[in-house]
Amino acid sequence: MRVLGIETSCDETAVAVVEDGLTVLSNLISSQVDLHSRFGGIVPEVAARAHIEALDPLLEDALEQAGTDFGGIGAVAATLGPGLVGALLVGLTAGKAIALATGKPFIGVNHLEGHIYANFLEHGPPEPPYVSLIVSGGHTMLVHMKARHDYEVLGQTLDDAAGEAFDKVARFLDLGFPGGPALDRLAREGDPNAIRFPRAMGGSDDFDFSFSGLKTAVMRFVKQERSHGREPDPANLAASFQEAVVDVQVSKTVRAALEREVGTILLGGGVVANTRLREHIREAGEREGLRVLFPSLGLCTDNAAMIACAGYYRLEAGERTPLDTEADPGLPL
Ligand code: KG4
Ligand code: ZN
Repeated sequence: MRVLGIETSCDETAVAVVEDGLTVLSNLISSQVDLHSRFGGIVPEVAARAHIEALDPLLEDALEQAGTDFGGIGAVAATLGPGLVGALLVGLTAGKAIALATGKPFIGVNHLEGHIYANFLEHGPPEPPYVSLIVSGGHTMLVHMKARHDYEVLGQTLDDAAGEAFDKVARFLDLGFPGGPALDRLAREGDPNAIRFPRAMGGSDDFDFSFSGLKTAVMRFVKQERSHGREPDPANLAASFQEAVVDVQVSKTVRAALEREVGTILLGGGVVANTRLREHIREAGEREGLRVLFPSLGLCTDNAAMIACAGYYRLEAGERTPLDTEADPGLPL
């Protein structure tokens, strides 16, 4: 069955057509990065308006690229939440309207579940149970999945999301917006052990995270160095900050898998595009005998193929979302 996926939870308008939860027939993204970069962050009103403008032509292109039209689609999936309410409304309303007009089933998808299911697109559906780390601009969460749709949230960030910390430190280093990818590139030229930043909650025996203290530590370090007439090397700063974030994420994720006796780790979310995180978690997995899966770069950050895929498995389980269901900016997993 071909599922039309629509994703507009944040600053990317995305439409995809995916067959049987596995074969991506089209996967288009219209990014708003240029619109928001002059504000140094995402402006919700601007995002919602840009989604309205981008969605119609993107829908047409995605169907055309998939070699189909609305008649060839078996069901419609759109992001229900979490995200910016005005932004979510655009894609959700479009998805419901298409389902109503074509008489096809509709499924509302949790964006975070979408990030986990991006792995299914690459590797096929792995056998549960899994431990999943979701790290994006808005979320940092460790989840135990005993079965496919059975989530136990083990821990989350108590303050900033990991991606938010990347973006804030990148802005402090004048790397532009969004800063995660730029910081990742700069860090490749630096020494991750140059500065020992704190591993906040790294030693705690829960599965929660905290990144705002780390961001402050980076700023304090720079101020201190400057007060002594020294200018810290930006590449070393980036690499050392990144190492601190990645260290805590990897050690907690691996510990969660071992403690819950789960053999498979699934990673999802924009921060999983990070070079060092991918390297480090792969090494740790090999060392501990755990299967570690993460999506290819383009499927880590927000996209609609992951929404179509997650929707497919919900539909397959017999679920349908009533068309009067509203967008939920705080939708829990
Ligand atoms: O999942 P996503 O596309 O959107 C949300 O759902 O939030 O994640 C975006 C976040 C941004 O904070 C961005 O800076 C971060 O992912 N990101 C990265 C990298 N690529 C994207 N962070 C670190 N390293 C990267 N290579
Ligand atoms: Zn996301």
